[in-house]
Amino acid sequence: MQAVQVSTNVYWVGAIDWNIRDFHGYSTKRGTTYNAYLILGEKPTLIDTVKKEFYGEMMERIASVIDPKKIEIIISNHSELDHSGALPQVIAAVAPTEVYVSAMGQKDLTGHFHQDLKMKVVKTGDKIDVGGDTISFVEARMLHWPDSMFSYLEKENILFSNDVFGMHYATSKLFDDENDERIWLTEAEKYYANIVLPYSDIVLRFLDQVKKMGLSPKMIAPDHGFIWRKDPARIVDLYAKWAAQAPKNKAVIVYDTMWGSTEQMARQIADGLRAGGSEVRLISMHSNDRSKVALEILDASALLIGSPVLNSQIFPAMADVLCYLKGLRKKGLIGAAFGSYGWNGSPVDSLTKTLEEMGVAVVAPAIKSPFVPDENIKKSCFELGKLISQKLAEKIQ
Ligand code: FEO
Repeated sequence: MQAVQVSTNVYWVGAIDWNIRDFHGYSTKRGTTYNAYLILGEKPTLIDTVKKEFYGEMMERIASVIDPKKIEIIISNHSELDHSGALPQVIAAVAPTEVYVSAMGQKDLTGHFHQDLKMKVVKTGDKIDVGGDTISFVEARMLHWPDSMFSYLEKENILFSNDVFGMHYATSKLFDDENDERIWLTEAEKYYANIVLPYSDIVLRFLDQVKKMGLSPKMIAPDHGFIWRKDPARIVDLYAKWAAQAPKNKAVIVYDTMWGSTEQMARQIADGLRAGGSEVRLISMHSNDRSKVALEILDASALLIGSPVLNSQIFPAMADVLCYLKGLRKKGLIGAAFGSYGWNGSPVDSLTKTLEEMGVAVVAPAIKSPFVPDENIKKSCFELGKLISQKLAEKIQ
């Protein structure tokens, strides 16, 4: 396997995981890549490694351009195991002079591997000589882990941004201009919604900080997906837009159904929203995954959740997706709950409490249908859709 030249002295030496479909719960329908980069100066430097299963692939790519034992410096921008899993093995094989990490990176890597990796801690503003060029470090705490760090190769003007600005997309084409925007735009947005969304305030502050530092990289090289070389500002602008979470006249209805009653309610609400002029997405958890819900929620301003009652609980698929959405901390949502039941409707009421715990502004009590919704309940659902639509229109004025 071959390294791929990125610029004069920089090579991509990562791995492509074509067939991964579940990345700790994130549905990766187009696989992913684990990007590692080799700088071939007087002090050969490796930035990040790969998931441990791909150690052989990475070492083979490195060996196509240099004897791996000549690597003097390793930088770990991010300690999550998809980038550090192979690190102890690489250190053992290469015996580098230095291994640079952030302070939290040192803590995380020690927690992962319980061995002395001879790490040296760096912080924002620190610089190291990589032999003919300089790397400066910028800590990016909580983007998306406490240890996250950017490395900036000054002369070549390349920013290595760890997970940030990446996407789960297995592609043999290494650069933005070689890939199809109709595919990557959705994958980049999905990645933001599922990985970065909870840290949107930090994203905005960080982008501001980087702007003030005067960084204008000719390339942004993340740890997943491809490298931004044609228009690196494009992904930065998209992050600024997604992080701002501006209100939009769009509602997402997430539900599951047992015998079709909750689905009837969901469809009535959707029709009310449409009649009120709102864009609406109806997502059944029977046929969708939580990553899809996150993607649709990113640019929505209303969330309606519906569940039937099973053994005096909400449906398990709804419990799953609500736990996930709570963690994503999407801002500025209004919403309401609905659902059908047989003899105990209180679990449907608990959905309203869940919405409140998620920070959603609840605009109406839960609509509950004993068994199959009658015409009155259907009408109430339609009217709820219209009410949400009216509130959305007020929000975006
Ligand atoms: Fe790609 Fe946070 O690891």
